Amino acid sequence: MPRIAYLECSRCHAHHDPATPQTVCTTCAGSLYVRYDLSAARGAAHRDLIGCTAEDKRWSGMWRYRQVLPDVEPVTLGEGWTPMLPSRRYAHVWLKEEGANPTGTFKARGLALAVTMARHHGLKKLAAPTAGNAGGALAAYAAAAGIEAHIFMPWDTPKANQVECRAYGAHVTLVDGLISDCGRMVAERKAAEGWFDISTLKEPFRVEGKKTMGYELVEQLGWTYPDAVFYPTGGGVGMIGMWKAFEEMEQLGWVTGKRPKMIAIQAAGCAPVVRAFETGEAASEIWQDAHTLASGLRVPKPYGDYIILEIVRASGGTAVAVSDEAIFASLRGWATQEGLLLSPEGAAATAAYDYLIGTGFLSASDRVVLFNTGSGNKYTDVIGARIEQFQV
Ligand SMILES: Cc1ncc(COP(=O)(O)O)c(C=O)c1O
Ligand SMILES: [Zn+2]
Repeated sequence: MPRIAYLECSRCHAHHDPATPQTVCTTCAGSLYVRYDLSAARGAAHRDLIGCTAEDKRWSGMWRYRQVLPDVEPVTLGEGWTPMLPSRRYAHVWLKEEGANPTGTFKARGLALAVTMARHHGLKKLAAPTAGNAGGALAAYAAAAGIEAHIFMPWDTPKANQVECRAYGAHVTLVDGLISDCGRMVAERKAAEGWFDISTLKEPFRVEGKKTMGYELVEQLGWTYPDAVFYPTGGGVGMIGMWKAFEEMEQLGWVTGKRPKMIAIQAAGCAPVVRAFETGEAASEIWQDAHTLASGLRVPKPYGDYIILEIVRASGGTAVAVSDEAIFASLRGWATQEGLLLSPEGAAATAAYDYLIGTGFLSASDRVVLFNTGSGNKYTDVIGARIEQFQV
């Protein structure tokens, strides 16, 4: 495992000391990236040993990539190395099944690493606003690490998220508002309460954990890039993490070729990134009256919007808004015809695939990875409320 060399600002590139807990850039408030000297892992020979050595057998899930993760003792519940399922209907489409993670979503990857680092630094109290699933993951990893978790979520967050947080022993506050209102409450209270703010993109390790999705999808495709990656985008952590992974893998000589088009999918009722993409802006503007049943996508202004937009543009990708109706139609299609109960967020990605095939942006022969970021089983109340229309 490499030592962290420094933390680098994504905006002004200032360096920050990795020896103490950091939040955002002290100069410009940009999000920070974790940087290492990865020279010890350079070359295909290192890559091809992943998961094969006797030492490797001790490391499960995303920790198979320990050559590119911080040199600390993990707090792990078995996150990562999720299935890459070939679609039964589309010949060149794979579904990355993140519902197989602990707590049922990809949020486990980011929170596993963020809580690992929090324990490493001796932090005792963590706080975060959440659209729901990050709260559940934070609660679980904090419990495993013996750390207090203070979680703020909108009152209408799916029931499973509220229940899991309480079951793991977290302090839960239901807020009459959106994730942005929850974030404000954490910001106002954290100094007095002694909380470390573990909000999306306001500490460097959630991105670092989620970058393992980029390593995995490339390894699972035989160390090749797909043509496109569909990512349901709220705060954008996974997209930012995967792009970082691609950059690292190229430096390491683990992959070559053209990077995938990165497709950011949002809900029609909350699409600040799509609007900024379409109008050519470098950052988004706050989306008023955000509403969608894909609760993880209900982020009126992502903190890392400028990074998401840069990536989508640099990759030759696009940003797509999908209606709740299209989300549920796709969710039903994948359930009845593929045997997979997607999260509404994942179904936004699958719906966007049909849409972009229809527009001709992609062709049916393009190799595509769609992210199902969470299990539909966490949304039985949301899906149940619409199930009547599914009856045949
Ligand atoms: C299931 C699910 N998918 C996607 C997202 C959006 O994730 P990100 O913040 O990485 O864009 C969330 C966020 O809450 C989520 O819970
Ligand atoms: Zn900066």
